[in-house]
Amino acid sequence: MSDSTLSGARVCADRFRSVLSHYPTGVVLVTAPPPAPAQPPPAMIVGTFTSVSLDPRLVGFLPAKSSTSWPRIRAAGRFCVNVLAADQQQVCRGFAARDPARWEVPYRLTPAGCPALVDALAWLDCEPAGEVEAGDHWFVTATVRDLAVQRTGPPLVFLRGDYGRCVA
Ligand SMILES: Cc1cc2nc3c(=O)[nH]c(=O)nc-3n(C[C@H](O)[C@H](O)[C@H](O)COP(=O)(O)O)c2cc1C
Repeated sequence: MSDSTLSGARVCADRFRSVLSHYPTGVVLVTAPPPAPAQPPPAMIVGTFTSVSLDPRLVGFLPAKSSTSWPRIRAAGRFCVNVLAADQQQVCRGFAARDPARWEVPYRLTPAGCPALVDALAWLDCEPAGEVEAGDHWFVTATVRDLAVQRTGPPLVFLRGDYGRCVA
């Protein structure tokens, strides 16, 4: 371990990314209702989703301040968290790359009117509850209004810059 690590001196960005990449995250697709009938629903792939509080029922995630999707999702006043399965890696890549065909994947609308992918493991209808500045990200908390499991199976995980699966 280097002295700079022990002393807490400013850590370089590459090292920060590299070390943190050893921590696995789940992968979700956050969606909102389309702003107008002819427009695609706003959607973004998120690895920072987490359960926050049981009472009240809060979840959270961290959209980057540079995200163009988050302001559109925020404006909708509600969003759906789709928990992606290990076999949805291509779906994930399509949304992350904003593939024009990304919305050809089957989905239905949740009670709040947000797209829930038919093959996602689970979905949660959420309403933004708070937003706190966190460096170059926002830390968004949201109240869970409804939720369901659609199927069981290994979730998609992101680790060391690549996708994998997690089995309990
Ligand atoms: C596995 C994975 C996890 C990601 N996690 C986040 C995240 O937690 N927060 C975030 O703002 N962007 C995250 N991104 C990047 C976004 O999906 C997206 O590329 C970014 O928001 C820019 O697109 P936008 O301008 O449409 O929002 C992640 C991407 C991948 C592939």
